[in-house]
Amino acid sequence: MSGYRVGIVGATGVVGREALRVLRERNFPASALRLFASARSAGMRIGSLVVEAASRAAFHDLDLIIFDTPDEVARELVPSAAAAGALVIDNSAAFRMEPDVPLVIPEVNADALRQIPRRIIANPNCTTATIAVPLAPLHRAAGVRRLIACSYQSVSGAGQRGVDQLWAEVQEAGASRQPPDRPRGSAFAAPIAMNLIPAVGSLRGGAFSEEIKVAAELRKLLSAPRLAAGVTCVRVPTLVAHGVAVHAEFERPLDAARARELLAAAPGVELVDDPVAGRVPTTLLAAGRDPCLVGRIRLDEAGCLAFFAVADNLRKGAALNAIQIAERVIEMGLLTSKATF
Ligand SMILES: NC(=O)c1ccc[n+]([C@@H]2O[C@H](COP(=O)([O-])OP(=O)(O)OC[C@H]3O[C@@H](n4cnc5c(N)ncnc54)[C@H](OP(=O)(O)O)[C@@H]3O)[C@@H](O)[C@H]2O)c1
Repeated sequence: MSGYRVGIVGATGVVGREALRVLRERNFPASALRLFASARSAGMRIGSLVVEAASRAAFHDLDLIIFDTPDEVARELVPSAAAAGALVIDNSAAFRMEPDVPLVIPEVNADALRQIPRRIIANPNCTTATIAVPLAPLHRAAGVRRLIACSYQSVSGAGQRGVDQLWAEVQEAGASRQPPDRPRGSAFAAPIAMNLIPAVGSLRGGAFSEEIKVAAELRKLLSAPRLAAGVTCVRVPTLVAHGVAVHAEFERPLDAARARELLAAAPGVELVDDPVAGRVPTTLLAAGRDPCLVGRIRLDEAGCLAFFAVADNLRKGAALNAIQIAERVIEMGLLTSKATF
């Protein structure tokens, strides 16, 4: 069979499972598919495929490997996968800021794929992607110089454990008609059902790691090294899709009407911007879909261009973007199939 030999590492997690779905939905040209996870999951079946234990020696004979594992696992295994000859697209944060690893959203900076010296491509953080897809066309037109962004991040952003904790707490709260008095899981230090937690990642000085990642990744993706970004990330009790309120200042004038025009024409963006008719971008509208939904476009009182963006964190924030990168790499003639030699 013609096509590429593809591996998914972290295939039992929420992003890995979504990657498998997206590969199939998009008829990705895979001639073989191998699934990997930790040794705990070895032998588990996902559909007709059997999960293998990932190890440094396991990656021979693959053309493309998508990594959907925690950072420390990616740090250990991604270099071996690339050394074995595969092109690696990594969803973790392990390599995103390395200067010789392109960080890519195809609609934003596909040109960065021209240089892949380590055979590793990084996929951005899910909140970064939700901001960058609509911000990029505005930046191209008017040059963003400063932004304030506040996120509303679903529990699936914290992996399967986040989803499990929310369901356990929601069921208990529904039965008792009381908010949970302590967490029923290990994903979040506080209960997440009927709660908001303004702490995503680990504390680094005054900010949390997610906030630092979003600012740094936006600068890299947009090639905007001087962009000043004030970011606050908040975990909310939704299952899938992250929302972000963005307020941005530009070098050149950009009013709401022009911004709406640019966003209406932007790839990967769908406008949901008719608040009078009750049409605003919600996370339920974005979940399970590909586009980044954008609405509430306006100039705010402070003179900033403001908008609200929502995107499915498991799809555009992770699995879909990774597979769109792979598709673009194939279009550019940069992926070779070992099977053809
Ligand atoms: N969730 C999101 O919205 C999102 C968005 C963008 C990026 N990311 C990033 O994507 C990665 C995966 O996140 P997730 O949300 O899918 O997490 P998850 O649901 O917790 O899944 C983690 C996956 O990693 C596997 N794994 C753990 N230790 C391993 C090891 N030693 N060797 C091989 N595989 C191992 C797990 O396998 P077992 O089942 O065997 O433990 C599981 O398949 C993370 O780096 C995350 O930061 C996530």
